[in-house]
Amino acid sequence: MASISWPILLLLVSGQLYTTSGTIGGHGNLTATFECLPDQASALLQLKRSFSFECATTTLPSWEDGMDCCRWEGVDCDTATSHVNALNLSKRNLYSYGIDQALFNLTSIQLLDLSMNDFGGSQLPAVGFERLSLLTHLDLSSSGVSGQIPISISKLTNLVSLDLSNQYANDNNEISRNHLLLWEPSFKTMVRNFSKMRELYLDGVNISSSGEEWCTALVRYIPRIRVLSLENCGLYGSIHPSFSSLRSLEVINLQLNTMSGAFPQYFADFLNLSVLMLLGSDLNGLFPPKIFELKHLTSLELSGNANLMLKVETLPKGCSLETLALDGTNLSIAKPSSFGNLRFLQALHLDAKVISKELSSSLSTLDSLEELSLSRFVLLNESLFSWIGDIKNLVFLTLEYGDFSRTSNSWIGNLINLEALVILNSFFSAPIPPEIGKLKNLKILSLNNCSLSGNIPAWIANLKQLSYVNLSTNNLSGKVLLVTFLKRLDFTE
Ligand SMILES: *[C@@H]1O[C@H](CO)[C@@H](O)[C@H](O)[C@H]1NC(C)=O
Ligand SMILES: *[C@@H]1O[C@H](CO)[C@@H](O)[C@H](O)[C@H]1NC(C)=O
Ligand SMILES: *[C@@H]1O[C@H](CO)[C@@H](O)[C@H](O)[C@H]1NC(C)=O
Ligand SMILES: *[C@@H]1O[C@H](CO)[C@@H](O)[C@H](O)[C@H]1NC(C)=O
Ligand SMILES: *[C@@H]1O[C@H](CO)[C@@H](O)[C@H](O)[C@H]1NC(C)=O
Ligand SMILES: *[C@@H]1O[C@H](CO)[C@@H](O)[C@H](O)[C@H]1NC(C)=O
Ligand SMILES: *[C@@H]1O[C@H](CO)[C@@H](O)[C@H](O)[C@H]1NC(C)=O
Ligand SMILES: *[C@@H]1O[C@H](CO)[C@@H](O)[C@H](O)[C@H]1NC(C)=O
Ligand SMILES: *[C@@H]1O[C@H](CO)[C@@H](O)[C@H](O)[C@H]1NC(C)=O
Ligand SMILES: *[C@@H]1O[C@H](CO)[C@@H](O)[C@H](O)[C@H]1NC(C)=O
Ligand SMILES: *[C@@H]1O[C@H](CO)[C@@H](O)[C@H](O)[C@H]1NC(C)=O
Repeated sequence: MASISWPILLLLVSGQLYTTSGTIGGHGNLTATFECLPDQASALLQLKRSFSFECATTTLPSWEDGMDCCRWEGVDCDTATSHVNALNLSKRNLYSYGIDQALFNLTSIQLLDLSMNDFGGSQLPAVGFERLSLLTHLDLSSSGVSGQIPISISKLTNLVSLDLSNQYANDNNEISRNHLLLWEPSFKTMVRNFSKMRELYLDGVNISSSGEEWCTALVRYIPRIRVLSLENCGLYGSIHPSFSSLRSLEVINLQLNTMSGAFPQYFADFLNLSVLMLLGSDLNGLFPPKIFELKHLTSLELSGNANLMLKVETLPKGCSLETLALDGTNLSIAKPSSFGNLRFLQALHLDAKVISKELSSSLSTLDSLEELSLSRFVLLNESLFSWIGDIKNLVFLTLEYGDFSRTSNSWIGNLINLEALVILNSFFSAPIPPEIGKLKNLKILSLNNCSLSGNIPAWIANLKQLSYVNLSTNNLSGKVLLVTFLKRLDFTE
């Protein structure tokens, strides 16, 4: 120990600190010691005092008066100026009624992420954000804020990424509490100075805008946008033709709005498109099969557009799709065996009526397939289900509206990797299939409204991984078993 000279020791110590603080690695000057500026530390300490830590995953122990705030949890400083340039307290479950004004004293901040904390349903401060003029990344998603989004955010002209989405906006319990509005200012006014924006997430924000209004605003002010996520925003009217010029788009999520128009043919010309989510959008017309040829496409979700016609000849070789959800659409596939070309497919949602012998045998060759959801069964014979037992790597299985009363259900026992089995609104007219007892990895079992009868079997207790069981609406005797350890169960779309 004595032989290590001081400079080297310093180097070792600060080197270690660099790695724990993360983002600085590579650019850092290992011999420089940068100290947080007192006004920055005092703003952060005031912010800490505004939080309640009762449900939090941290108490921010490193945030202590007299310590260098550049080394505090979630804080990063500019190596040259020592100003705090990033504050990321994402997913800490901190609580505060409202965002403290002290935050806005961190005027050098470029990255601010307070997502997944709880600001108690308060409104975003009307003034303050405009002081954070260097911000490039702002994430306040799922942070329990509500009401009108203030005009001050529209003044952040350097923003590259803005996330104000609320993934719980759909929960009835939360709807009044966590509901952001974008009315005054409107969407159009909000995006006017966002020319650098590349990623915009406003899921669950009540925008209530017509296709013409929001599309033309995007085209005019953010023509090079790459990620657009406006799920469940109260958008109405068809997607305006001007949208066709947004060719840099890689992610389009417009689902759960009322688009009521023809499916845009030009999506097939968005060569960088990787995610297209339009579930439940009331789209009609013809889906352009050329979309399947897009090189980067990984996710295509069009479920619940009953008037959308997909006449697919063949699914191309080399297709990179990982998620495909086409249930509740008007789908026909001329060459079902071409499903075997989807070598990377992980999740598939289909209406059972499109299942044919060719299609089912090609699905059982897909080693990557982990999630299968089938609904609206019309055929009633055994070959309808038994092939599912051949998809050995299946982890999630959802079946709805099936008649299992005339078939052997022994195939269920083959799915040894299954973690979630959800069968809903179906017909067994029998006891719970004993084959389920072989699924040792099962965590979730839902068999609601399946006309199951008899006793709840003792073998259920042997499924040690089970954390959620729901057997509601059956004619089962024995102790009513309705256990929930999971907060959310959402495998049905
Ligand atoms: C690192 O910091 C020291 C002291 O502040 C300075 O003399 C040196 O030039 C810096 N080196 C680099 C590569 O920035
Ligand atoms: C924020 O800055 C103002 C002056 O710009 C100062 O008066 C105030 O005390 C600061 N607040 C905190 C919490 O540091
Ligand atoms: C904040 O940190 C989390 C990990 O804790 C990371 O996933 C997230 O991307 C960071 N936020 C930003 C805006 O970089
Ligand atoms: C947008 O920027 C212009 C000047 O570049 C400014 O006059 C206007 O107030 C800004 N709009 C908003 C909504 O901040
Ligand atoms: C948006 O808010 C208005 C007024 O509060 C309400 O009438 C409308 O239903 C909301 N839209 C959505 C999609 O929640
Ligand atoms: C598509 O992505 C590539 C690679 O990131 C990029 O060079 C190109 O400009 C993008 N195309 C459009 C239309 O943005
Ligand atoms: C589905 O599309 C076919 C044409 O391919 C059409 O004849 C049929 O009526 C459509 N079905 C529904 C339910 O819209
Ligand atoms: C069951 O359905 C398959 C495919 O739909 C069909 O080929 C087969 O003949 C049917 N078997 C019986 C016994 O009806
Ligand atoms: C139970 O399932 C049947 C179809 O099998 C359906 O008609 C009925 O509405 C379902 N009942 C409930 C309560 O969901
Ligand atoms: C069980 O499923 C039924 C029907 O989907 C649902 O209403 C009920 O809330 C579920 N029970 C639990 C404990 O999740
Ligand atoms: C429920 O099961 C009992 C026997 O366990 C039977 O007597 C009864 O008829 C069943 N009810 C219905 C509605 O199927």
